[in-house]
Amino acid sequence: MSVKVDSWGSRVGLILAMAGNAVGLGNFLRFPVQAVENGGGAFIIPYLVCFLVMGIPLLFIEWSSGRYGGKFGNHSTPYILDSMVKGRLLKYIGVFGIFTNIAIAAYYCYIESWTMSYVYHTLMGTFDGMSQANVAGFFDSYTDISKSTTGLPYEAVIFYIICLLLNTFILSKGIKGIEKVAKVGMPLLILFGVVLAVRGLTLGTSGASDIFPDANAWDGLNFLWTPQYDSILDLKVWMAAAGQIFFTLSVGMGTIHCYAAYIDSKDDIALNAVSAGFMNEFVEVVLGSLIVIPIAAGYLGLDWVIENAGFGMAFQTMPYLFQQWGPTLAVVAGVCWFGLLFFAGITSSLAMGTPWMGFMRDEFGWSKNKGAWSFGAMILILGLPTVIFFKEGVFDEYDYWAGTVSLVVFAMLETILFSWVFGMDKGWREITSGSDIKVPNIYKFIIKFITPVLLIIIFLGSVFKPLGNDWSGNISSLVAGNGWVLDNGSIIKMVMHAGIRDQIALATDPVVIEQLQDKILYLNLARLLLLALFMFISSLVYFAFLKRRREGRATL
Ligand code: ALA
Repeated sequence: MSVKVDSWGSRVGLILAMAGNAVGLGNFLRFPVQAVENGGGAFIIPYLVCFLVMGIPLLFIEWSSGRYGGKFGNHSTPYILDSMVKGRLLKYIGVFGIFTNIAIAAYYCYIESWTMSYVYHTLMGTFDGMSQANVAGFFDSYTDISKSTTGLPYEAVIFYIICLLLNTFILSKGIKGIEKVAKVGMPLLILFGVVLAVRGLTLGTSGASDIFPDANAWDGLNFLWTPQYDSILDLKVWMAAAGQIFFTLSVGMGTIHCYAAYIDSKDDIALNAVSAGFMNEFVEVVLGSLIVIPIAAGYLGLDWVIENAGFGMAFQTMPYLFQQWGPTLAVVAGVCWFGLLFFAGITSSLAMGTPWMGFMRDEFGWSKNKGAWSFGAMILILGLPTVIFFKEGVFDEYDYWAGTVSLVVFAMLETILFSWVFGMDKGWREITSGSDIKVPNIYKFIIKFITPVLLIIIFLGSVFKPLGNDWSGNISSLVAGNGWVLDNGSIIKMVMHAGIRDQIALATDPVVIEQLQDKILYLNLARLLLLALFMFISSLVYFAFLKRRREGRATL
């Protein structure tokens, strides 16, 4: 192939880019919510165990697979897997490693565009003097594109397109462009995070008011950091902890393979993998838990936080809370918070563009420009429905299939391939070759036995999630011969839209029934789009195979 292959400029740049890939909106928005919804201190132990027995092993697998594939000039998972294992069909498992990124980027960039818009509105003083209800109302009308927030019609669409253009432009500069953004964005993000965390730590009871007399930031911290051992047997908490580990480390996605494929075959990957992973955990567990929850608990009280915890809290509540610090600090805090989210988001969304670009360059000789702009165009086509039909649930549908199910499926399949088909002896050699640390031997056992078994349990657990997420109750019922009742959130019931159909069955108002039926229609169209994307990438992998065969490069 005549197109010049990119490479990382420095080790620091590589680690910051990998950490930037992992550190994302999930660290600041998803982690606190997951922790609160799963009992605070009850969540932390399963979460840390999942990091050690699934997160770190998957990082080793993906970094070493990527570097291995890179030796053969492969920078995306279909042909990275093809270089590792024989079997004509196995490379199609790698389709997940391109598909997931494009599908996640489509809705992820939408949240990223909110952060840009919120920096703009903070600077313009839009939130000045707003009550909490007003700030929440602003968010509602922002995400309902038929309404205008500040006189700019379709503001959500405009910011979304600006965000895509920015991502595309940086991607067109290749790996070196991404490295530059990570070198600026990651330190700034940590600086902004520390400023806000100091505020979260020092707020104490000073934010209590007549309406919320019990407000206390320390309650938020204690809730997250007082371990509760009774959760250790609660499978629901383990599932949530595992899901968070996948999302936050960006494992099961294909981005790590792609970044690692640009590493020289003699360079270390073990220490790099551990460094980037721990940097992500520091940002998530330390900074991520010191901002939203304590600050919200400091003004609104812990009970309010537990009742209202959700992804939108950062946008529906924080600008109001910052107002309590006086006009100047409100602007500083708003820029720090939404700026931090923006850098967290863009260093992850840029990574999501690279597997596609790598694939098209390796297989069809596409330039960086062509790769980047075609990625931008696909994101626009797939992402606009998430913007326009946000209220109809299209965004959540993408998040479920691409951001949750696909990660687990790919992580499970790649782990089995790595440990059992590529073979653990070869795999261990790949992980440890050139290593700057001594990788504990126990990980050979964990990667071969523990990680695949846990991933299979998680996958089956999601397919057959029991009613009310009540595992012990349903297991007893099964043992007693009374059967297993599926939850509407299980993959099987989700496929059938069981939750919405139940609502239709209970509804009496014809208008509500019609809205719910329309919702099913929108969600089916969203699924069709995702399916079309998967088929499209699969067919490209097939054409690439034919081309390789013609050129005498096909492995089988
Ligand atoms: N790992 C990225 C995040 O946490 C996707 O947001």
